[in-house]
Amino acid sequence: MTHSNSTLSARRDAAVPRGVFTLQDVFALRALGGVVLDVEGREYIDFTGGIGACNVGHSHPRVTQAVSRQCQELMHTCFHIFQYEGYVALAERLCKLVPGDGPKKAALFNSGAEAVENAVKIARCATGRHAIIAFEDNFHGRTNMTLGLSGKVHPLKKGFGPYAPEVYRMPYAYCYRCPMGLDYPSCDVACADHLRDFFRTHVDPEAVACLVAEPVTGLGGVVTPPPEYFPRLAGICREHGILMLMDEIQTGMGRTGAMLACEHWGFTPDIITLAKSLAGGMVLSAVVGRADVMDAVEPGGLGSTFGGNPVSCAAALAVLEVFEAEDILAQAERLGRKVKKQFESWAGELEIIGEVRGKGAMLGLELVEDRESRTPAVEKAQAVVKECLANGVVVLAQGRYGNVIRTLIPLTMTDDVLERGLEVLGASLRNADGAR
Ligand SMILES: Cc1ncc(COP(=O)(O)O)c(C=O)c1O
Repeated sequence: MTHSNSTLSARRDAAVPRGVFTLQDVFALRALGGVVLDVEGREYIDFTGGIGACNVGHSHPRVTQAVSRQCQELMHTCFHIFQYEGYVALAERLCKLVPGDGPKKAALFNSGAEAVENAVKIARCATGRHAIIAFEDNFHGRTNMTLGLSGKVHPLKKGFGPYAPEVYRMPYAYCYRCPMGLDYPSCDVACADHLRDFFRTHVDPEAVACLVAEPVTGLGGVVTPPPEYFPRLAGICREHGILMLMDEIQTGMGRTGAMLACEHWGFTPDIITLAKSLAGGMVLSAVVGRADVMDAVEPGGLGSTFGGNPVSCAAALAVLEVFEAEDILAQAERLGRKVKKQFESWAGELEIIGEVRGKGAMLGLELVEDRESRTPAVEKAQAVVKECLANGVVVLAQGRYGNVIRTLIPLTMTDDVLERGLEVLGASLRNADGAR
């Protein structure tokens, strides 16, 4: 062993600012499928999938082969100087992948935040309007514009303002903690219709370029709006010429059992952002949308030195091959069903679980002190994360209060590894429940 976690942690503390978030003092050496090996030779079952970037698993052989092949041939030219086929081939594939019958176009970038920023630029350009409607509990990235759009303050936004003007934030359909104090379904999804009042109290609809939302919140704690929510919002937006921009950076690429989560709600967004699992662990993001909207920007208005670089494009094309060859959507559905069944069984047994929610393999457990008060069990959620880590399973606690155990399990994880991971998570939840 050449390095230990503790010596690397000491070096990290001296060289890397404390603001850079790290879940634990563990350094990875290699990873494959659903398992990460640390520098001390210890195995971890990864229920976070590199925070949603490893839907086809860590270092999928088809992806690593495509990457190394591409590295030998062409690593970088900058698409704006020398174009290459991979960029165009991927754009073609992405245009076919998103819902809607009309022509579409796709532009490639580096990070999720960069995709959202560019999507907003495109929406503003296409509509000639400046205002944006965003949502509480949604997260869109850590650049100034995307933080301004994000509805989670601590620790993401603290100390970094001012943020861009003309962002108006609506409550989201967080039914377990309904912002309007109503119950689904008798509420008749009043939170979506609230957009009409919002136009009276917050912003003129004729000034709004787009509404931006996650179909299911990631960092916001897997909040999953009811079936009527997005179609209702989309209908109101259409009345006013407002574009629907869906941030599928976390929900996309099969995470929810459909290629894109918006398919579950049966509506067609005008613009979609993708990143994370798009290139199986390589750096890549995309904005895909209606061709007339995407073409509103003049030549030269969109770009980036590394955006859609040849190696990331090759990785993303390999990811799409894996989806077909291994029927990843069916795997997502199967894995999601299995994990949800286990979560629901724990919920039947443990008072600490207030709600099980999510779609496909994007699932969350909201932990509460008791089901009557629904008081967020923040410390207990932290204890679950800590105990899981101590026993070799990585999970995250997130959400508005940090009390939602969130899983983004690689969709290719084998049953044996999955079951071992669930056993550890179940034991940690039982201990937290016993500590009530
Ligand atoms: C829904 C969503 N949008 C945007 C982002 C930002 O992506 P990136 O970290 O690649 O900038 C994230 C990252 O977690 C995300 O979950």
